[in-house]
Amino acid sequence: MTGNPVRFCGLQLEHRIINASGTFDPIAASRAFGNDVITSLPFSAFVSKTVTVEPRQGNPPPRLWELPSGMMNSIGLPNKGLVRWVEEDLPILSRMKIPLIANVMGFERDQFSTLVEALGGKAEISALELNVSCPNVETGTIIGSDPFECGQLVSAMRLLTDSPLIVKITPNASDPAAVAISAEAAGADAISLINTVRGLALDPVSRRPWLGGRTGGISGPAIRAASLAQVDAVCSQVKIPVIAMGGVSSGKDAADLIDCGATLVAVGTENFRDPMAAERIRTELESISLVP
Ligand code: FUM
Repeated sequence: MTGNPVRFCGLQLEHRIINASGTFDPIAASRAFGNDVITSLPFSAFVSKTVTVEPRQGNPPPRLWELPSGMMNSIGLPNKGLVRWVEEDLPILSRMKIPLIANVMGFERDQFSTLVEALGGKAEISALELNVSCPNVETGTIIGSDPFECGQLVSAMRLLTDSPLIVKITPNASDPAAVAISAEAAGADAISLINTVRGLALDPVSRRPWLGGRTGGISGPAIRAASLAQVDAVCSQVKIPVIAMGGVSSGKDAADLIDCGATLVAVGTENFRDPMAAERIRTELESISLVP
């Protein structure tokens, strides 16, 4: 059954449901609803919004576009940068009762090194997720699209930390499984997928791209079948654990990904519709018999 604790990268997690990076902000939620939010998250581990070395404003607005079965974002990695994240956010996030996974992104390898060296040794952080798959910034998917580049990055980061390294790969690549294989060979401890699928929306009046970043990343139920296919392909090719995500909005969706080989399932867009969705999804999952 699925409500049982699960081992993941040396961590003992209470269940299989976590969040997708950038889809749940416990600090903002605790400002709105009180400090108890921080200690009662519906996830078994928490993945931070992407941290970059320098502060970032993110992409110009508009940043969101609603789709018939999901949404498209062009957020562009806004964040306060490494130094302020460590000083201001980490002390708050460390009050959580679940392991913290820090998601980091560098625009070049040296920036990944800075982030991994700074965060890899911190007791408050249980694992690092290397974001090589953001479709909303220039160069965001270059490493994650190329097995060789991804392997080079992971090999270099592996030398810098003993912390578990999770590599978040992109669906916007010709062969995501080849990227996962290369990451595993280079020393990654886990793979997460899928990040958003690149898309475009036109302003109905001007007929020009609606999003400030021109294109965006599609998420939600619209990408569920694409996620399932890619998770299935990756899980059949690697031995390291896989965190699967992409349009999960029910226990059945989570069970599908687990039956394809995922160890953990991340809830993303559904958190925006219902911040406690992960609790419902977990409960539904517990009533489903998985393939043994
Ligand atoms: O644009 C963003 O902030 C999203 C990041 C991502 O998809 O990795």
